[in-house]
Amino acid sequence: MLSKKLAIFIALVSVLFLDINKIYVKHDFEESYKYRLCYFTTSTLSKLANLVGTLNLVPEYKFLRDSIDYLSISGLNKSDQSVNIEFKNFNNVNVQIYRPNNNKNVSPLGVLIFIHGGCYFVRNLDSYDSLLSTIVKETNLLVISINYRLAPEHPYPIPTDDCWNVVEYVLKNAQGLNINPEKLILAGDSAGGNAAMVLSKRLAKEKKIKPLFQVLIYPWVQLAFTMPSSLGYKGGFISALDITKAKLWYLGLNEVSAEMKAAITSNNHTLLLSEGEKNLIESYMDVNLIPDKYKIGKSYYDLYKNLPLFNTGTLDPNNILVRDKNFADKVKMLFSEKVSPSLDSLDQLKYQPKTYQITCEWDSLKDEGLILAERMKQAGVDVEMAFYEDCFHGMITFSDASLGFVGSKKIVENLILYIKKNI
Ligand SMILES: *[C@@H]1O[C@H](CO)[C@@H](O)[C@H](O)[C@H]1NC(C)=O
Ligand SMILES: *[C@@H]1O[C@H](CO)[C@@H](O)[C@H](O)[C@H]1NC(C)=O
Repeated sequence: MLSKKLAIFIALVSVLFLDINKIYVKHDFEESYKYRLCYFTTSTLSKLANLVGTLNLVPEYKFLRDSIDYLSISGLNKSDQSVNIEFKNFNNVNVQIYRPNNNKNVSPLGVLIFIHGGCYFVRNLDSYDSLLSTIVKETNLLVISINYRLAPEHPYPIPTDDCWNVVEYVLKNAQGLNINPEKLILAGDSAGGNAAMVLSKRLAKEKKIKPLFQVLIYPWVQLAFTMPSSLGYKGGFISALDITKAKLWYLGLNEVSAEMKAAITSNNHTLLLSEGEKNLIESYMDVNLIPDKYKIGKSYYDLYKNLPLFNTGTLDPNNILVRDKNFADKVKMLFSEKVSPSLDSLDQLKYQPKTYQITCEWDSLKDEGLILAERMKQAGVDVEMAFYEDCFHGMITFSDASLGFVGSKKIVENLILYIKKNI
């Protein structure tokens, strides 16, 4: 059932703003009203957060985070006793453990470590209850969902370090947890997909371990550029949030001014790179790597032809990127593979494990996802792409019985089939 709190909230706000029908919906998308409600709620919260932030009442990120926490819908079936949820602390990081109830004291289970999305500054752990419980029931895996600390109070690299600490704890305590560390799966949604890639590489390099496979759910793998798919659509669900601010929060900039945002949205931050860096990154983000079948009939790829990935010219000495050295140094991190794991060279991408990747057409992150998949294949990684023409970013959290979209269920069913086939 739609949570009562959410229903009241939507009703109240709907009275205030009646422009819900103006929200962009992808052509032919059948569940448009439901989509509009979800988008409207998030974008309204985002606007309110911006307002209270501007008035110095509460920091914008904090208001947004708290309200999303408050409105998160668990979607758990309370009479369903087949999954047991526990709250624990592993190496000083809070986690939620989902364990199949039929499986006490029997052979060790495979384990799926899940990293939630939310642009590294919001969390909505409850919204994944339904998804993660379904995975547990269908696959008999133990699922550990990480409640990592969030930016900007806990900026890069704290969120991914928290996840690393959980993985280390799980490997060290496999016996006590009754899990089989040889059956380790990492899965991440959006920003969580970014973290999953960071962890996979670290596991391969520092511990000579490759997870059985990783699941990248429309991963947020590069924070540096605007790609054609973000011009073509209003980004799908993700655009309800202020992504440019989220990037700067992740770098630890609490106070993001309009000038700072403009430095990124104007693409002027690319003027910080040397020629050599530009050439390398340009080859990593080449739109020509995207297979044609994903481009047919999509006119936004033509629009993009006239837009350079990198700006040319020199920065004005008054530009904040010149004036504020600390800001410029931080912004340059967006081009680093540590923050943008898809900007890694092929000889580093080869450390990635076998990958199941979910990509949606209606998503500003479509292109970077498809490019990453092609480059991982070039590096010798076994990648299976699950591409959904009629799905949008964030859809996997809307899979519970009442609020769910048809496409969400399809994504979850195929994910479960892949897991069953590969464990
Ligand atoms: C909730 O779980 C019970 C017991 O497993 C089941 O009978 C019922 O159909 C479920 N309800 C929904 C809405 O899924
Ligand atoms: C970007 O840089 C160009 C000069 O290279 C300048 O004309 C323009 O105003 C800058 N834009 C922003 C938003 O700083």
